[in-house]
Amino acid sequence: MSRTIIVSNRLPTKVLRTDDSLTFQASEGGLATGLGSIYQQAGNVWVGWPGLFVEDATEEGYVREQLRQDSMEPVFLTEAEIRDYYEGFSNSTLWPTFHYFPQYATYEPAHWAAYVAVNEKFCQAVLALAGPDDTIWVHDYQLLLLPAMLRAARPRATIGFFLHIPFPSYELIRVLPWARELVAGVLGADLIGFHTFGFMRHFLSSVSHLLGFTAHNGRLEAGQRTVLVDTFPMGIDYDRYAEAAASESARQHEASYRQVLGDIRVILSIDRLDYSKGIAERLRAFEQLLVRHPEWRGQVSLIMVVVPSRDQVAQYAVLKEEIDELVGRINAAYRTMRWTPIHYFYRSFPLDELASLYRLAEVGLVTPMRDGMNLVAKEFVATKANDHGVLILSERAGAARELSDALIINPTDLDQLTAALHEALVMPANEQARRMRAMRRLVRQYDVFAWTDLFMSRLAYAKQEQLSLDT
Ligand code: UDP
Ligand code: G6P
Repeated sequence: MSRTIIVSNRLPTKVLRTDDSLTFQASEGGLATGLGSIYQQAGNVWVGWPGLFVEDATEEGYVREQLRQDSMEPVFLTEAEIRDYYEGFSNSTLWPTFHYFPQYATYEPAHWAAYVAVNEKFCQAVLALAGPDDTIWVHDYQLLLLPAMLRAARPRATIGFFLHIPFPSYELIRVLPWARELVAGVLGADLIGFHTFGFMRHFLSSVSHLLGFTAHNGRLEAGQRTVLVDTFPMGIDYDRYAEAAASESARQHEASYRQVLGDIRVILSIDRLDYSKGIAERLRAFEQLLVRHPEWRGQVSLIMVVVPSRDQVAQYAVLKEEIDELVGRINAAYRTMRWTPIHYFYRSFPLDELASLYRLAEVGLVTPMRDGMNLVAKEFVATKANDHGVLILSERAGAARELSDALIINPTDLDQLTAALHEALVMPANEQARRMRAMRRLVRQYDVFAWTDLFMSRLAYAKQEQLSLDT
C-alpha cells in the first residue's frame, strides 16, 4: 500500500525530560498543529526531530518505540547539530532572511556545513523508510536541500515540498552565500507549494536569477525535469477548534477566568516568542490606546500568551527582555487594585485552555511584521460560533490574503493600530457578525483536510504528467 511520508524538522510531539522521567507533549507552531490532524490517516508516517537529546541507546530505543506507536519516526540530533543546524543556519540565517530581518542574520560556513549534513541525515532516515510507491512530502525551511538529495537517490520518487514561511524578494535571497544551492535543493521536488502568490512569485524570480530556469503557468523547466509550482493557503482543522471551544472544559475554564476578570473586556494575543510577530509593537499600541482613550482604562485588558521559542538564539533572548520590560512598565504605570492592563503568560497552554481564551476574547490581535500564514488568526475565527468578536490582522500575514473581513492594518503604523483597537471595541454587533460570518465560512470550507487533498491531487497530477512525457 502506498502512503505519505511527512518530513519536517520538528515532530508534532516533543519529548521533555522532567526530573527522572520523559514526558510526551504536543509541539507548538503552525506546522505541527496544522498537520497534526492529517498525518495519522491511511498508514502515513511523520519523520522528524523529537526535541530531546537522548542520553544512551536504551533511551533512544524507548523514545523510538513510543513514537512509532503513534506513526512517528524520530531523527535524533546531537547538541552540536542543534547548535549549528537548528539554532545556527535554520534560525539565525534562514529565518531572519526569509522574514525580512537581514540585520539579524549570520553567515557562518560551519553552520552551513551542519545544515548540509543534517539534511543528509534526514535523507537517510527517509530512504530507510520509504518504499518505491510512497509519496514523500517535505516541509519547511530547515530542509530546503532535502528534495534534491532524495531525488539524487531515487530519481523516480514522488516528492512534494511546502514552505510554511514567506519566500522573500530575490534581493534578500541573493545576500546568502549559499543561495544557489538552497534554491536548487528545493527543485528536487515534483511540486513546490507556497501559502501566497507573492511568495511563489519571489521564488520563481530567484530561480530565474540564480539558475536561469523560467516558468510558464506554474510549470518550471528545470533542466531535464518539469517542476510544478503553486499556491496552497494552509487551513486549520476547523472542527477541532470549533469543538474545543464548545466543550464543557473550555466553558468551565472561561467561567473561572470570567470570575476573576469581572466584566473587563478582553483583547487576546497569542504567539511563539519571535521578532517576526510584532509583539513589542503590539504592546506599544495597547499603551497608546490607554493614553489616547483613557475611557478604556479599567475597562479593557490585554491577555498575552507568549510561547517560549528558540531561546538559545541571541535575538530571541533579547526580545524576551524587551517584552518583560514593556509589560512591567505598562502594568506599573496604569494598573489599579481591581484592574491589570496586561495579563502576560510566558508558557504554552493545552488546547482546551487556548480555546477558552479564544472564547473569552472580543478582539483577536494578530500583528506580525511578516508571517507565512498565521494559524492563530484562523483559530480565533473558528471558535466564534456566535459570530461575536473582531479580528485585527496584519497585512503582512499570509492569512490577510484570505481574511479580508478582518480589520487589516500595517503593524508598523502605531497610530493605525491604535485606531483599529478602538474601532474594534466600539464596532456594532451586526457589523461584527457580518465580518465574522464571512471569515468563518471561509475557514471552515478551506480547512487543513481540503488543503492536503488539493496539494496531494496536484502532486499526483505533476507525477502523471512527467511519466507521460517520459514514455
Ligand atoms: N499554540 C499552541 N499552544 C499555545 C499557543 C499557541 O499550541 O500555548 C499553537 C497555536 O494554536 C497555533 C500555533 O501554535 O496553532 C502557532 O501557529 P502560527 O501559524 O500562528 O505561528 P507559528 O508559530 O507557526 O509561526
Ligand atoms: C514555524 C515554522 C515551523 C516550526 C515552528 C515552531 O511554524 O514554520 O517549521 O516548527 O515555527 O518553531 P520550532 O523552531 O520550535 O520548531
